[in-house]
Amino acid sequence: MKKQLEALRQAAGAAIAQATDSAALDGVRVQYLGRKGDLTGVLKQMGRLSAEERPVIGQLANEVRCAIEGLLAQRGAKLQEDETALRLKAETLDVTMPGRAKALGHKHPLSIVIDEVKEIMLGMGFSVAEGPEVEWDYYNFEALNIPKGHPARDTQDTFFITESMLLRSQTSPVQIRVMEQQKPPIRIIAPGRVYRSDAVDATHSPLFHQIEGLVIDKGITMADLKGTLNQLAARLFGEGTKTRFRPHHFPFTEPSCEVDFTCFRCGGKGCPMCKGEGWIELLGAGMVHPKVLRGCGINPEEYSGFAFGWGVERLAMFRFQIDDLRLLYENDMRFLSQF
Ligand code: DAH
Repeated sequence: MKKQLEALRQAAGAAIAQATDSAALDGVRVQYLGRKGDLTGVLKQMGRLSAEERPVIGQLANEVRCAIEGLLAQRGAKLQEDETALRLKAETLDVTMPGRAKALGHKHPLSIVIDEVKEIMLGMGFSVAEGPEVEWDYYNFEALNIPKGHPARDTQDTFFITESMLLRSQTSPVQIRVMEQQKPPIRIIAPGRVYRSDAVDATHSPLFHQIEGLVIDKGITMADLKGTLNQLAARLFGEGTKTRFRPHHFPFTEPSCEVDFTCFRCGGKGCPMCKGEGWIELLGAGMVHPKVLRGCGINPEEYSGFAFGWGVERLAMFRFQIDDLRLLYENDMRFLSQF
């Protein structure tokens, strides 16, 4: 038995030295010192020993157990140290490593233009109103003095959802919605998407954007319209930008006009951008028709107002010198990243 115990000590020592991680070491402990382990196996044979031999072997067995426990503890501590070092190494953070740059998005040219106009108009005391893109025929046409069969409907043919529901062909219906809900004084702009059944080309799209403006109060005249648009022109294209009002016809304004700005590129002398004219046509405008006011419950004897509407695409195309409207919708990064 002495030999057996010595052999056990040797074998355990070798196994402990070879254990490469804590889990393996634990396996070794169980194999040699466990309740069903090798040492227990040897001690079970003690019954066969004589009374003199028993204490000697007992003491030796204790020594072997102590020795193995000592080796296990030693090795365990060492393995723990190694494992900690390894983990620390794996988890080190190189603070000198350059960061990964996040690609930041930016505004679409149409949004840039809309935000600019909003900013200027908010500064003049306007607030922003919204209306639905799926609109009733009543708001898009009828209430704007464009009854069924009116020729103005032809130029704004749009997409009908039912006989009385359509995709709005202009932002002007927002005027009606606001006047129905708000008492004068009213000062709003309404930017948004509009639709027309136009074929796509360099200057047309079935979906485009407009910005509507509406002011209703006591004693509002064309002079207020002109003053407001002059201010807008100066802020958008620079001091000295002039406006030109040409007589026109819209069913929902009387009188009506189209408004041109002096070409901001040549200042009015004539250049390729304004096709030699010196002027760029930008807006439709006028004094809100008494019939429209009355339809919204506003007394035209007491109140008057002006309205205007303009195309955002057209504005963006001049502003950024874009010659094809389709570029605004194609989402080509080579185009979009220039703004
Ligand atoms: N809604 C008109 C259009 O799409 C533009 C317009 C003209 C709006 C005159 C107005 C206005 O508010 O007074 O052609």
